[in-house]
Amino acid sequence: MSRPLRLGVNIDHVATVRNARGGPHPDPVRAARLAAEAGADGITAHLREDRRHIRDGDIDRLMAEVALPLNLEMAATEEMLAIALRHRPHAACLVPEKRTEVTTEGGLDVAGQYKHLVRHVEELGAAGVRVSLFIDPEAAQLDAAKALGAPVVELHTGAYCEARGEEQRRELERLARAAAYAEAIGLECHAGHGLSYSDVGPVAAIPTIVELNIGHFLVGEAVFVGLGNAIARMRSAMKAARAQA
Ligand code: PXP
Repeated sequence: MSRPLRLGVNIDHVATVRNARGGPHPDPVRAARLAAEAGADGITAHLREDRRHIRDGDIDRLMAEVALPLNLEMAATEEMLAIALRHRPHAACLVPEKRTEVTTEGGLDVAGQYKHLVRHVEELGAAGVRVSLFIDPEAAQLDAAKALGAPVVELHTGAYCEARGEEQRRELERLARAAAYAEAIGLECHAGHGLSYSDVGPVAAIPTIVELNIGHFLVGEAVFVGLGNAIARMRSAMKAARAQA
């Protein structure tokens, strides 16, 4: 029997729309409550240095008002470490962050930044926060994540989502190989970035991936069909693919 596959709903882009006008609407915390009612397993939010989507007050409210576990995406900076240690969310996903990027462009270079990351992973872990590292699907990054002592990795699916044809098949193979290797070395494996109805199936079918984090596409679809319906359809696409795996 296949392992369950969790869905973490990233609500950042509800906040992006709110921030476009500066007022309180639409409220990302309301979206998180709705996601919980629609069957999400967790909420993901990325507190960026420039606060372009989720802001500090949103994190306070997500922790206080939403029953689902929060996965806080964050850069490995002193500021973010202090915030995460203050809130102690269920999980923290360390991501690379560039001020000028539109979205998280690639995975964290865990192998290259080992010395810098080690204290972040240790302090978060000691505070009871489940640390995951957002990485490209490469064995060297998985080995470095394992050596750092992080219990979880999240594989960046962006290259797979953007590729087409033969190239997309190769990217899918890279994800499947990395996910199998993660399990072999004792890392829990998540995946996300850029996933939509049309490309989630093959990733959901990779049996050693146990969580997908999806945001931008769901928030966009919510404009047309409502967030609850978008989440329900994503869940059923994930479930159908998983059942056939
Ligand atoms: N996982 C991580 C680590 C991310 O940084 C993001 C984007 O914030 C996502 C998942 C979700 O990506 P998308 O919004 O493209 O679905």
